[in-house]
Amino acid sequence: MKRMEKISTSVLEVKNLSVDFVSDMERTHAVQQISFELEAGKTLALVGESGSGKSVTAMSIVQLLPLQLTRYPQGEIWLRLGDERLNLLNCSNEKLEQIRGKEIGFIFQEPMTSLNPLMRCGEQVTEMICKHLDVSHSEAEKKTLALFEEVDLPNPPAILKRYPHELSGGQKQRVMIAMAISCDPQILIADEPSTALDATVQKTILDLLKKLQVKKNMALLFITHDLQLVKNFADDTLVMYRSKMI
Ligand SMILES: Nc1ncnc2c1ncn2[C@@H]1O[C@H](COP(=O)(O)OP(=O)(O)OP(=O)(O)O)[C@@H](O)[C@H]1O
Ligand SMILES: [Mg+2]
Repeated sequence: MKRMEKISTSVLEVKNLSVDFVSDMERTHAVQQISFELEAGKTLALVGESGSGKSVTAMSIVQLLPLQLTRYPQGEIWLRLGDERLNLLNCSNEKLEQIRGKEIGFIFQEPMTSLNPLMRCGEQVTEMICKHLDVSHSEAEKKTLALFEEVDLPNPPAILKRYPHELSGGQKQRVMIAMAISCDPQILIADEPSTALDATVQKTILDLLKKLQVKKNMALLFITHDLQLVKNFADDTLVMYRSKMI
């Protein structure tokens, strides 16, 4: 009985995942035998010192590690899609394109790795919505405006027209959060979303993420090296140390 309940709430299951990087010279074991589950409406904090394998774990879920260099010697990453489950390690590129942004939203530490410096902020979010949802451009733009309000950006119509470099660090993070949640993903991955920001802004970004997560019943994978930070924030905590879970 208990097992059945568990299956019904788990939206992602990482089983025994190992990730290696290969070069002519060496093979690095970046992640070794990590297992965890993400559940709808719950936050799992992935905590560990620098270089322990947190980002590599996150990037393997969305399969964004460099193909040529990356090997998965063992493991499975099961995503729930309705009644089906899909192992993301054996997924076609086409399928992954559909999943990224739609089923799994992600926010990275450095906003400029996710935001295109040459595109207006509004257009970037609108484009994401048009790609995944069956709506017209003007409907997508309306939705973008509503999202900018939802993430508490000041003067959303003005932000819509601005380029990323015309925003503060905290505002850029909010645009990224708006983009990440724009297609109502079941899972949100936030890789150190606030470490580049000052303490007050950091706190408001975390509060915002938590609020959105509860409201939308998303599973949140929250990555940080700051154990203090997750004390009151996460339902579960997984600590990584030198590529392993401890
Ligand atoms: N593209 C790559 N090629 C080779 N090694 C890599 C690559 N990306 C990451 N690594 C290695 O994998 C290990 C884990 O890195 P990862 O980025 O997951 O650390 P992290 O826990 O996210 O650290 P931080 O807190 O500093 O962000 C490190 O030893 C890193 O050097
Ligand atoms: Mg990292």
